[in-house]
Amino acid sequence: MKPNFYKKFETDFRIFTRHQKNAMATIQKYLEEHKDRMLQELVDLLKIPSISADKAYKADVIKTADVVKQRLEEAGCDVVEICETPGYPIVYGEKIKDKSLPTVLVYGHYDVQPPDPVNLWDSPPFEPVIKKTELHPDGAIYARGSCDDKGQMYMHVKALEYMTKNDELPCNVKFMIEGEEEVGSESLGWFLERNREKLANDVILISDTGMIAKDVPSITTGLRGLSYVEVEVTGPNRDLHSGLYGGAVANPINILTKMIASLHDDDNHITVEGFYDKVEELSVEEREKMAEAPFSLENYKSALDIDAVYGEKGFSTNERNSIRPTLDVNGIWGGYIGEGAKTVIPSKAFAKISMRLVPDQDWQEITALFKLHFEKLAPKGVRVEVKPHHGGQAYVTPIDSDGYKAASKAYEKTFGKTPIPQRSGGSIPIVSLFERELKSKTILMGFGLDSDAIHSPNEHFGVWNYFKGIETIPWFYHFFTKIKK
Ligand code: BES
Ligand code: MN
Ligand code: MN
Repeated sequence: MKPNFYKKFETDFRIFTRHQKNAMATIQKYLEEHKDRMLQELVDLLKIPSISADKAYKADVIKTADVVKQRLEEAGCDVVEICETPGYPIVYGEKIKDKSLPTVLVYGHYDVQPPDPVNLWDSPPFEPVIKKTELHPDGAIYARGSCDDKGQMYMHVKALEYMTKNDELPCNVKFMIEGEEEVGSESLGWFLERNREKLANDVILISDTGMIAKDVPSITTGLRGLSYVEVEVTGPNRDLHSGLYGGAVANPINILTKMIASLHDDDNHITVEGFYDKVEELSVEEREKMAEAPFSLENYKSALDIDAVYGEKGFSTNERNSIRPTLDVNGIWGGYIGEGAKTVIPSKAFAKISMRLVPDQDWQEITALFKLHFEKLAPKGVRVEVKPHHGGQAYVTPIDSDGYKAASKAYEKTFGKTPIPQRSGGSIPIVSLFERELKSKTILMGFGLDSDAIHSPNEHFGVWNYFKGIETIPWFYHFFTKIKK
């Protein structure tokens, strides 16, 4: 008599081969049959201007949450709730097949960045159009949020639809779709603390990043942290005539720009004391491995219309935008910017500054170091105020976790290639929070491209990328469940 162990293995193996043989064919057939509807649903979602940063769009943000709820129900979730928070609601959905099976928690965001400057868009940001381009012969959807993150989030909803309608969902699934990611996810920490049980999972799956190229699949293994501050320099108590007072009192704009210029030295190192103290230095081997990823500096420059790259001495472009911390002014204003000329010494000048952080910098510590440094920089005659906004820790994930292995196999299935692990320069601050609060690893399966222009005018998402995502995601569930069993 065969021991039970083998018996179990035999049945599992049969189920597995059935899955493996048919799933690929069925998903492609299913996507072909439902292609137009799946695109139209995304287009409809993109029409709602869910701009979380601008209070004028509050009703639209809330409406988007309702639409996401409805779509999750239609896709096969058993329970979907709109969870109120101190900020915008979080949409929670689940389909629990069997408590003994593994659980995948999908995170995404339904809010979008403001579309400004609107005049630089070729078509209105909330009137999606599908246009064919050289890179996207199947077309790309042009709209704010098409890639970041409505399009990528919605791939998961459609992957769920495929799995539930075709009896291909091998495990449990939970969804947590928030509406404040683009403004710092403030309510998410609040929600996590109160819902640890509800959100319990074996792995977190997110599509809110990119991949190297359509024929070079990659999995994001790192995100940078962030410290975002606003600074205000105040000189005289009112705007002054620049002839009567010019040269005799400190001009806050002159001072602010001088202070900002001093934040980098000639080698483009950041001058804030202690800024690099905890920065994780990669080994020569790790850096060599990174440099193997395909990259063309010429293409990079020509895509941006620049004649040279610029950055920290001693590091390559890919290192500068992933494993090294940065400091950048995001906006600066003050004085007269209306038509014509007005001779004035402004009373105040302002700037918004972001610092991208890497392991093991602590964002609150960096914010404090910046504040100390910046305040010390100010000469007599002005007052400086540093107001911290939001922030978050960096994240790196190993490539030998169950989740990474499952994702890697999924890409092998649908791209026919092993994906390259790659650290990204962007930030999704809640990912490190997930690890701390929910004790689980996050797998970042991004299907966007650098050229998608997220946060910029003419944001778009390839139709091919959208469907490739929907096709790849069910394979992740398949392999993850298999590894966990
Ligand atoms: N999806 C992006 C982050 C991203 C994009 C990471 C591409 C990696 C590759 C996310 O929506 C975002 O924009 N995050 C913000 C931070 C947030 C706190 C406002 C960012 O990175 O600026
Ligand atoms: Mn995003
Ligand atoms: Mn974003």
